[in-house]
Amino acid sequence: MKSFYPLIIVAFIIILSACKNSEKKAPQAAVPIEIETYESQKGQHRPTFHFTPPEKWMNDPNGMVYYEGEYHLFYQHYPDSTVWGPMHWGHAVSKDLVTWEHLPIALYPDDLGYIFSGSAVIDWKNTSGFGKNGQPPMIAIFTHHDPKGEKAKTKTFQYQSIAYSNDKGRTWTKYKGNPVIPNPGIKDFRDPKVIWDDDSEQWVMVFAAWDHVKFYGSPNLKDWTHLSDFGKEWGTHAGVWECPDLFPMIVKGKGEKKWVLLQSLNPGGPNGGSGTQYFVGDFDGTNFTLDPSFEAKLEQDSAVWLDFGRDNYAGVTWSDVPVSDGRRLFMGWMSNWDYAQVVPTNEWRSAMTIARNLVLKETYLGYQLFSEPIKELKTLHKDTLKINGQKGEQLRLALAKGKKIIGELHLKFIIPNDDDNTKLTVELVNSKKEIYHIGYYHKWKGFFSDRRVAGKTKFTENFAPTIHQAPRFSKDKIIEMRIFFDVASAELFADKSWTVLTDIFFPNEDFTQLNLNVDYGEIELLDSHFYSY
Ligand code: FRU
Repeated sequence: MKSFYPLIIVAFIIILSACKNSEKKAPQAAVPIEIETYESQKGQHRPTFHFTPPEKWMNDPNGMVYYEGEYHLFYQHYPDSTVWGPMHWGHAVSKDLVTWEHLPIALYPDDLGYIFSGSAVIDWKNTSGFGKNGQPPMIAIFTHHDPKGEKAKTKTFQYQSIAYSNDKGRTWTKYKGNPVIPNPGIKDFRDPKVIWDDDSEQWVMVFAAWDHVKFYGSPNLKDWTHLSDFGKEWGTHAGVWECPDLFPMIVKGKGEKKWVLLQSLNPGGPNGGSGTQYFVGDFDGTNFTLDPSFEAKLEQDSAVWLDFGRDNYAGVTWSDVPVSDGRRLFMGWMSNWDYAQVVPTNEWRSAMTIARNLVLKETYLGYQLFSEPIKELKTLHKDTLKINGQKGEQLRLALAKGKKIIGELHLKFIIPNDDDNTKLTVELVNSKKEIYHIGYYHKWKGFFSDRRVAGKTKFTENFAPTIHQAPRFSKDKIIEMRIFFDVASAELFADKSWTVLTDIFFPNEDFTQLNLNVDYGEIELLDSHFYSY
């Protein structure tokens, strides 16, 4: 009997490994994802301090220009539906970038096509000759997208055109010589952003051409010459490049001038779908070249991101902000092409981010862009809650309760014993026990945003499959989180706006509780506040 033991063991091993193999080969059962459509009440999820169109579809911000006391915001708009369609430029103006006045649609589709994204400038020297009565014209530079050409599968259906206004952007005339830059046979050929370059004394246009950007120069905004290309070998190419922006900046505290190139791409963003990378370098009137330190950085990281959330796309900066103001003001579309057309709002779709001031700093990581919330938002502060001196483990603080949580939370804290398990979570909660979480996890050395149980998520499979993460760059002992909460969004500016994360969410009822929890580890809260709006 004894002699059979080895045989029995061998047989056992064979059977076991057969089972294992068959396990490996067995087809994975597909888990069906339930997609739900939601009935939202009228006006539900409409932000209170973010720009939204009065009704129907909106995507990218366009034609952002400052003139005679007004910030203009034009935007990609389809006035007949809450999904994308033939593009127009919607229009609004603001004196403070916080409250907006809606104006009639500025640009309508025409024989040359839909009006895609683009920019606007004030032609101070009347180089175009479109000025009137000694007043400079406002010029819009945009992509015409010809749907017939697209259908016919030509590759030449996008080209750059211009229009001008002599009445502060209220009415527009399209230039008879359009397009000003015809298409040489590149399918994706769009989103012109124009600046006046003092050094080379010319208008400079940058626009996206699939996997790179093109620079053109002009003396008068009508006649353009190709200057150069950039980007095929740099940054991430996980999606198509769209909506670039090129501008000079003075490095904070150094007086040195550098050029920044913002570059949106879709998909391929840091947490999935649409996102915006940037490059820092020099522009000599013809070529954009990366700064050597930035080039070295890109050899390690595939991209440098402006915002780690999923909901800041196609953002560009305002033109003609007075030198006395000196800011480089930015605004993005607070959505993502992964789900923008199915988010559960009914009479309108999409909002813009809050306006931000971009600041270029030289750090231990080289040149980095910081996105600071504009100071004008302070005018919204109503009540202030001080949250000082709290310390300890298992901290549970109810910061606000009872009414809609809308406002700014400024947290400053340290992790006294540097315990990796330390996790600080800010929660928004409603009466349906839906929760949005945003916080800092010391083990990841990073911030997170979790909308998985924050309300409606199943309108598409990829709205909330995972937690979104953002790295912490600052090495300061004091961790700072500044979070702007509106009814359907959170915008995190951490460590003086070095790490930024913008996310939207759709609770079935408004969030009415704001809590701060430390479940693991220990923190010491320093000078912190909640400013309710
Ligand atoms: C970016 C974009 C642009 C285009 C516009 C069309 O979101 O795809 O490239 O001009 O939207 O609406």
